[in-house]
Amino acid sequence: MSMTFKVIIVGGLVGFFAVVTWVVFLPTALWHPERTVIAQGYTGDVGRGRTLFYSNGCNYCHTQYVREQDVAMGPQAQGGNYAEDNPMILGSERTGPDLSYIGRKRSEEWELKHLQHPRDLSPLSIMPNFAGLSAQDQHDIVAYLFNLGDRNAAAWMVRPYNTPYLNLTGPPREAKATPGLTSTPQGWATFKSSGLYEGKQLYITHCQTCHGCAGNGLGTYGGTMAVTPVNFRQEPFRAMPDDEWIWHVKEGVPGTLMPVWKTSLSDAQLWRVIDYAQQLFAHPFYHAPDEGDPPPPYAGKTNPLTNSYAVLDSGKAIYTRECQVCHGSSGRGEGPYRTGLEPLPPDLGDGSYGKYTDADYFWRLEVGVPWTAMPVWGLQYSSDELWSVVHYLRTMFTQTEPPLPKPVKGQRFNYPALYQEQTMPATASFERGKALYANMCSQCHGQAGDGRGPNGLHLRPRPTNLQNQASNPDPPQALNSMLTFGIRNSAMPAWGEWLPIDQRWDLVKFIVEGFQTGKPVTASVLGSGAAPDSYVTYDDAIFVGEGGTLSPANGKALYGSFCAGCHGSQGQGDGDALGAAASGRPTAFPAGMAEGYIYWRVAEGVPESMMPGYAPLEFQSQVTTTPLTGGSKSLTEADLRDLTLYVGKLASRQPKH
Ligand code: HEC
Ligand code: HEC
Ligand code: HEC
Ligand code: HEC
Ligand code: HEC
Repeated sequence: MSMTFKVIIVGGLVGFFAVVTWVVFLPTALWHPERTVIAQGYTGDVGRGRTLFYSNGCNYCHTQYVREQDVAMGPQAQGGNYAEDNPMILGSERTGPDLSYIGRKRSEEWELKHLQHPRDLSPLSIMPNFAGLSAQDQHDIVAYLFNLGDRNAAAWMVRPYNTPYLNLTGPPREAKATPGLTSTPQGWATFKSSGLYEGKQLYITHCQTCHGCAGNGLGTYGGTMAVTPVNFRQEPFRAMPDDEWIWHVKEGVPGTLMPVWKTSLSDAQLWRVIDYAQQLFAHPFYHAPDEGDPPPPYAGKTNPLTNSYAVLDSGKAIYTRECQVCHGSSGRGEGPYRTGLEPLPPDLGDGSYGKYTDADYFWRLEVGVPWTAMPVWGLQYSSDELWSVVHYLRTMFTQTEPPLPKPVKGQRFNYPALYQEQTMPATASFERGKALYANMCSQCHGQAGDGRGPNGLHLRPRPTNLQNQASNPDPPQALNSMLTFGIRNSAMPAWGEWLPIDQRWDLVKFIVEGFQTGKPVTASVLGSGAAPDSYVTYDDAIFVGEGGTLSPANGKALYGSFCAGCHGSQGQGDGDALGAAASGRPTAFPAGMAEGYIYWRVAEGVPESMMPGYAPLEFQSQVTTTPLTGGSKSLTEADLRDLTLYVGKLASRQPKH
């Protein structure tokens, strides 16, 4: 056949359609991958959210496709996952994380906050702010993300199909109360009759070592496991139906250390413990606890132990180990596990405990407080141990008991032979010590170690000025011992009960170099004055354009609370908090620092100097019930920008060198 024009055209068309049939029509007609359980339709809010997801270009940065080589991102994607997807929005570039399985991993509150202000939650994120979208749009996007989570939840937490558990519901629960003054206080009577007290006791004896006293999966035993115990305060537990709870609790979770409970606890007991985990942690709701007065046999009891250093040491060890996570190291209710508890742990330093008798404390410790997460300590400690805690609370925090005489020299701390033999390991790190100090110590000892942290002001004796270490240094071994056992007759915690030995050495290194010798600032530490790439594009206009607000007044106030102690009120480096540690003192702010540079330093600190980082997440465990002046606080992105503006202004006023 000769290659006429017609033959070429017709041949071309035939070839074209053959290819199109092969790669488009045939697959569309014949490709019916088996629908997986995670393929779900997109209706209502979820459907609108999906449209908004691609119209706002989320898929330019987020994929929804887990490949074989994507270790630890979740199960590999299968064709059937996408049975409902038209068009597909797999995404092509992973600037942000893959979202296939994000779903209900985070709370709605978190998702909304992150969508509006990503950098409040993830300081270095380059995800744009979507605060400009309407509330409905934001809600729909989150509904869509949650739906991806439903897929996830369904994939690894298959419903109890083909088991007798399907659709089981627990016994009826107590009605919800609304927070606020009008809600009827509920006391022991309803707490007991609802079965919750029994549930709480079972939780403490059977579940707490793994799932933790605050239900967050951080029990003492939890950290040692390959698959860590779940946090009941996150999804999917807040939305998990009863039948899944009872199923998992009775049968255990294969492949993990979650026990099979059906052999040791009855159904009635299991429903009670589930009820407790749900009401106190998974979907807590406020009950005004009304404890009343101590009933017999507690009424009128007085402390059988005479107060002494040994008694206080015992009370402190238990307090540091068990109570600090909720009540805070200074007793003001600022512990890191407080988040999400209803009601919150109280402020024991607010001066309102005058009317509490020994019996009041002992009763609450031994049986707990109804309708709260306060555990039943009588299940774990003897009466004498609890009475030692009562002495500790009363002398140190509520100060309703007379203080003991000051310890004589040489008696202030335990210094057992073992600690005299130890030497600081070469692996101890100043930087890790600085971060630990900012989180665990600065609220009492002050950021610059001058003993003036805001949470320590009510203590008796007040926290030590650690800079005195410069004139009268203790050897590192002695410091380690002070940290491990605490200082006698003071609220200085026994950190050996809480921090592992290597972290205590990090702190010792920080104290020695920061407060004893003073960490000199060398030119090489400060570098060229240039910010790293991710901060070079720093731009307030973009921040404001995306709905952020800037407040110079806030910057000034924050500077006064957090920075002036070291940098001086005018930024000249003459703050009054750094006394003896003079060689660690900052120099005057140099004129002409770029904003991106200032922001970077404030967010991340200056390595190998006393300057800590203030990036939001670092300070989250330190939120207190009372406003802070200095010490520590969770700073937001807006706070850091306000500080940056203010520091820039101070710097521009400095005399040129
Ligand atoms: C310019 C790229 C970019 C765009 C556009 C973008 N993101 Fe992100 N996103 C990121 C980055 C980077 C992160 C990781 C840092 C963080 O958590 O903010 C992230 C994180 C997330 C996370 C948290 C993931 C996790 O593991 O917790 C969610 C959820 C999310 N983005 C949703 C969205 C949604 C919804 C949109 C569209 C409205 C969107 N993103 C648009 C870059 C982007
Ligand atoms: C020895 C430690 C341990 C103890 C004790 C323990 N758990 Fe667990 N539990 C785990 C671990 C580990 C997981 C995580 C399994 C996973 O990731 O799916 C888990 C998961 C769970 C889940 C979620 C199951 C799921 O994935 O849906 C529930 C509900 C639960 N535990 C309830 C309880 C209750 C109630 C008790 C006390 C009666 C208890 N656990 C005692 C370790 C423990
Ligand atoms: C899981 C967090 C948590 C732990 C751990 C915890 N508590 Fe509590 N505690 C609370 C909560 C919540 C309350 C109740 C607040 C209320 O009644 O409004 C409370 C109440 C108290 C009260 C009564 C205060 C009052 O105003 O009536 C005392 C005393 C107390 N706790 C001491 C301790 C001691 C001592 C320990 C350690 C042995 C401890 N708590 C451990 C959360 C906790
Ligand atoms: C609840 C407040 C509080 C917290 C938190 C706290 N301390 Fe203390 N600290 C004290 C008090 C009070 C003293 C003793 C005051 C006295 O005996 O005069 C003290 C004493 C010390 C001493 C002894 C100094 C000396 O030479 O006598 C050291 C060292 C110390 N603290 C380090 C730390 C470190 C490191 C941290 C953080 C891991 C920390 N402290 C956390 C309150 C606190
Ligand atoms: C514990 C003392 C201390 C505190 C508190 C402190 N800084 Fe610093 N800061 C330093 C030291 C030391 C340096 C090292 C550089 C120097 O010599 O100026 C430094 C460096 C800086 C720099 C870089 C200056 C340069 O020359 O490159 C900035 C910006 C800065 N701090 C801002 C702040 C702000 C804002 C705060 C409060 C949020 C703050 N600092 C809190 C001690 C402190």
